[in-house]
Amino acid sequence: MSRSIFISLALLAWHAAAQTSSLCDPRHNASCPNDPALGSGIYNETFTSTTTELNPNFWNVTSGNAETVQFGENGAELVIAKSGDSVTAQSTFYIMYGVVEVIMQAAAGQGIISTFDLISDDLDEIDLEIMGGNTSFVESNWYGWGNTSQYNAQYHPCNGPQQGMHNYTIVWSQDQLQWIIDGSVARTLPYAKAGRYPQTPSIMKFGIWAGGDSTEPEGTVVWAGGKTDWTKGPFTMTIQSIKITDASTNTSSYTYGDNTGDYQSIKAVAGESAAYKLLNKKSAIESATAQWNGLSDGAKIGIGCGVGGAFAVLIIVYTAVCIVQRKRGKAEKAIADEQWNEHTSELMEYRTQMAKGHFAVSHMGHGEKF
Ligand SMILES: *[C@@H]1O[C@H](CO)[C@@H](O)[C@H](O)[C@H]1NC(C)=O
Ligand SMILES: *[C@@H]1O[C@H](CO)[C@@H](O)[C@H](O)[C@H]1NC(C)=O
Ligand SMILES: *[C@@H]1O[C@H](CO)[C@@H](O)[C@H](O)[C@H]1NC(C)=O
Ligand SMILES: *[C@@H]1O[C@H](CO)[C@@H](O)[C@H](O)[C@H]1NC(C)=O
Ligand SMILES: *[C@@H]1O[C@H](CO)[C@@H](O)[C@H](O)[C@H]1NC(C)=O
Ligand SMILES: *[C@@H]1O[C@H](CO)[C@@H](O)[C@H](O)[C@H]1NC(C)=O
Ligand SMILES: *[C@@H]1O[C@H](CO)[C@@H](O)[C@H](O)[C@H]1NC(C)=O
Repeated sequence: MSRSIFISLALLAWHAAAQTSSLCDPRHNASCPNDPALGSGIYNETFTSTTTELNPNFWNVTSGNAETVQFGENGAELVIAKSGDSVTAQSTFYIMYGVVEVIMQAAAGQGIISTFDLISDDLDEIDLEIMGGNTSFVESNWYGWGNTSQYNAQYHPCNGPQQGMHNYTIVWSQDQLQWIIDGSVARTLPYAKAGRYPQTPSIMKFGIWAGGDSTEPEGTVVWAGGKTDWTKGPFTMTIQSIKITDASTNTSSYTYGDNTGDYQSIKAVAGESAAYKLLNKKSAIESATAQWNGLSDGAKIGIGCGVGGAFAVLIIVYTAVCIVQRKRGKAEKAIADEQWNEHTSELMEYRTQMAKGHFAVSHMGHGEKF
């Protein structure tokens, strides 16, 4: 292939993979809303056949629907079956440096792309892309400011990404960015100035799409490894677990101090993030449930009497927190509303249980959804 053809194919592929617009780009708009942070929380979820949904507190499914995200014994299954199908979910929270670990099995099938990435409001982007027809290599890539004239893709050996679970970990700091595959560092990108190194708060996105679909440009089809044969579908990407850690602690949100896109302009607003509060509450309830299950019936009745009073106080405290929360940014508000509804329903549940002569812990059994 001549160099010029190669470059034009590469550029087409670029357009297919890079995100080229943002709801509000802080390099071009001084009044973008704050980015809700993950902050001190660790989002850590293993998907199983008992998982019922991608928790909407943490994930926004922007392409696809409940039928295209299923849960099986190996994890969350993202399924595409016909031309035009794709499934994408994105986190409701941002991280500013940190670690993203995904244990997954890519979809098999020519032209099918299984992917996850980190993307910021000014379009810094960190990618991992796996072609369904290439059983021995996976691709890493990155972009600065959505600049589609850069070409940074590299390929790394990986033994059968479609044949079993592999651990893809991105470790992102101020100094360097690393892609680690099954425990081996595949690529290290050293820090460079803004626009040449991702350095702004980012959401995590994952999904499956067909770069080999007949509706895609020729360059994209070539990059994806050839035309997709839909009669061989459906094509399924399986995610066993996702773990996301934000390098910033005690941070409720991030803001851009100016339009430089430089990490030094990013400000962390101190406080507990909405995501952290939800995660913290979830783990507190999980350990309380485990403890509760270990107790004798006599102890349960004794504690139940005490819990009644303590629980009523908690409801008042949470209600106050929720009222404050409701005044904050839009995405935070969505999460706060969820909390509000949940605590209201907890209160109702508590009353019902008390009326029946039970004590107030049965809501803990709902463990899955917060
Ligand atoms: C800047 O962002 C704000 C908030 O999203 C929006 O209301 C406003 O229209 C944007 N301004 C421009 C010039 O795009
Ligand atoms: C993450 O979750 C897994 C399974 O749920 C658990 O075994 C592990 O200890 C968790 N790790 C952290 C750091 O929370
Ligand atoms: C897999 O990717 C590598 C690296 O780009 C490439 O050399 C190889 O030809 C690809 N194999 C297939 C079957 O597409
Ligand atoms: C985009 O990246 C290319 C290649 O690195 C560079 O030459 C060009 O100046 C960049 N464009 C902008 C607008 O930053
Ligand atoms: C995945 O790889 C990362 C980086 O090597 C490692 O820290 C982590 O423990 C691995 N996760 C699992 C579940 O093995
Ligand atoms: C977190 O930030 C809040 C708000 O500034 C502050 O009051 C609190 O002391 C901080 N907590 C920690 C552990 O740093
Ligand atoms: C979810 O995504 C849709 C479509 O992009 C968007 O309109 C909505 O605001 C998002 N919700 C949250 C909570 O981010």
